[in-house]
Amino acid sequence: MIIAVDGPAASGKGTLAAGLARHYGLAHLDTGLLYRAVGLAVRDEVDAPDFEAAAIRAAHALDPDQLSDVAALTAAETGVLASRVAVIGPVREALRAYQRDFAARPGGAVLDGRDIGTVICPEADVKLFIEADSKARMERRARQLEARGVEVDRYALYHQIEERDARDRANPNGAFYRAPDAHLLDTTNLDIEAALRAAVAIVDGAIARKAGGNPA
Ligand code: DC
Repeated sequence: MIIAVDGPAASGKGTLAAGLARHYGLAHLDTGLLYRAVGLAVRDEVDAPDFEAAAIRAAHALDPDQLSDVAALTAAETGVLASRVAVIGPVREALRAYQRDFAARPGGAVLDGRDIGTVICPEADVKLFIEADSKARMERRARQLEARGVEVDRYALYHQIEERDARDRANPNGAFYRAPDAHLLDTTNLDIEAALRAAVAIVDGAIARKAGGNPA
């Protein structure tokens, strides 16, 4: 079974995808980490004239099985760098095969990102599109960072999230939109347990409908 989980920055999709993977015994890939790793690799070249070429080279050179510096990868600034490299078509192409192979593994997988249900796994058994309003997303990301001892400027973080949303939405290469067959889950007023219960109910319902011969 392949489950595709898409949604904007800090919508809770990563936590939900990990929870779904645990619940159904599936492997999980946070595809944002791939873009974050490419962004980190070219962080010193952001203003260089050959930034795009450097990002494309970094995407081809990336070993997705060796992403270990979690603190650097998950930093808010790395998210901004990731959104810069994610608009580059050849970067996306370079990362595509790894994601598709991951999804095709025996037993199935949960992938979360922006284009999983649309580009990476359009054939996914179940697609979820996670939403939450920007204030709720900012507050969640702030608490995650604070739990790691990072001091947070909420005003700056809110604008960073809005900036990333705008860049992700305008991304001509990213196909960041809700797949027509994706189930919408708004987590604005749900805590993680309630959101996971809702996600499991959606997945179970989709599986039952498929088993009964009806499309998801
Ligand atoms: O989900 P995240 O915050 O880790 O994503 C970081 C950036 O990577 C975000 O700006 C959008 C981009 N991204 C993407 O374009 N496609 C994906 N499948 C995953 C992430």
